[in-house]
Amino acid sequence: MRTCRWWRYNNLLDRSGSLSICSLCKLGVKVAHQQDLFASPKPHTHAKLRILRDYLSAWTSILSNQSWVDELTYVDAFAFKGILKAGLRDDSTSEYGSPLVALDIFERQAIKRTNKTFNILCFEEKEKYYRELVNNLDLNFPKPKTNIVLEKGEFFNYLSGNGGNIELNSPIFTFLDPNGVRGIPASLTRKLLNIPNSEIFVNLMSGFIRRFVSVPSFQRHLVNTFDNQEAVNRIMGSNNRVEALIREYMKLLKSFGNIYVKYFEIQTRKGNTLFHLFFATSNVTGFKIMKDVMWNISTEEGYIFCDASSHNRLLLSKDQLLLLDSRLKNEVLDYVRRFNVVKVSSLYKHINQESEYFTENHARRMLKELEETRIVYIDRQSESKKIPSSASVRLVVNEY
Ligand SMILES: C[S@@+](CC[C@H](N)C(=O)[O-])C[C@H]1O[C@@H](n2cnc3c(N)ncnc32)[C@H](O)[C@@H]1O
Repeated sequence: MRTCRWWRYNNLLDRSGSLSICSLCKLGVKVAHQQDLFASPKPHTHAKLRILRDYLSAWTSILSNQSWVDELTYVDAFAFKGILKAGLRDDSTSEYGSPLVALDIFERQAIKRTNKTFNILCFEEKEKYYRELVNNLDLNFPKPKTNIVLEKGEFFNYLSGNGGNIELNSPIFTFLDPNGVRGIPASLTRKLLNIPNSEIFVNLMSGFIRRFVSVPSFQRHLVNTFDNQEAVNRIMGSNNRVEALIREYMKLLKSFGNIYVKYFEIQTRKGNTLFHLFFATSNVTGFKIMKDVMWNISTEEGYIFCDASSHNRLLLSKDQLLLLDSRLKNEVLDYVRRFNVVKVSSLYKHINQESEYFTENHARRMLKELEETRIVYIDRQSESKKIPSSASVRLVVNEY
């Protein structure tokens, strides 16, 4: 079976999706069934953890093979209890929360194959959850090889030197998953992104912020998160508060250095914004991998996961596919037009680093299509059918 051009981004379910026909390209597309996808009534929680798991898995396997890396550290600053009840309808099924997702990757995937050191640091301020976390880790991984530090309290305090003596050895991946906006001040995100080879994955409660931005007690925390009152005022005064807060948070994270930022929206069943996941890194490979991971989990255009979209239906509509296609085409052609003749390698690099949605894989496919339709000419400098990165591209038709 040939695959639909967007298929690889639709195969959220690769175990038992049934086969349908893509309305645009008439090739087979897997349609996801909610029941198969996530047994839980809250698919977005699983989407969030799936992004974490897929990215951490790639991060761990790439970095644990690097000779310059001695140890890898995962920090869970808002750990919760380690196990989530997956379904209110079926209380017997439980699933891993973020600390266990990370530990599972380290224990099962990595530790046996390398002699590197793996660390997990978890922070949970609620006594009850902290105790459950200790038990759940112990029950599921009785003799872990990973060094585990569990702290009852705030990560920020520890990092500021008030509470403990924790050394953060890079590479570090930190998950900041609060249930409000308290606890993720800009001083913390800045500190983390100033550490070399340190990446952050932040859950910003955008739906919540949009509604409560003008409440004074809430604003205090927001000012800390966004670093200044002016940014909060701009969000409050905007007629699209969600867009404004995305803009402000991107600006903030990028101001910490040479940082790539990718965000992903999580929506409710009715299509309302629930929260945004922001990933920030100084590593371009990490940025590319996270874009791919988000595409794989997305139900809408690579940057949204909507609970309603995980029902039986084609994940991308014909209009969405067309829109995506023309967006990608414009991004590729704009770059070629800017320089007249460009190296394929620099086009890929540009798309990887600058495009908000697309990756090298998308650009590669679009280049082939533009060549077939004689919109661009590709000088391969060889007989190869494939497009080598050393090839150059120019426009054939000027009006493009
Ligand atoms: C959304 S839950 C985290 C879920 C977790 N990432 C998972 O996947 O299982 C947020 C947790 O952070 C805890 N929490 C909230 N504020 C905190 C803070 N400032 N420091 C440490 N823990 C905090 C809450 O008690 C709650 O258990």
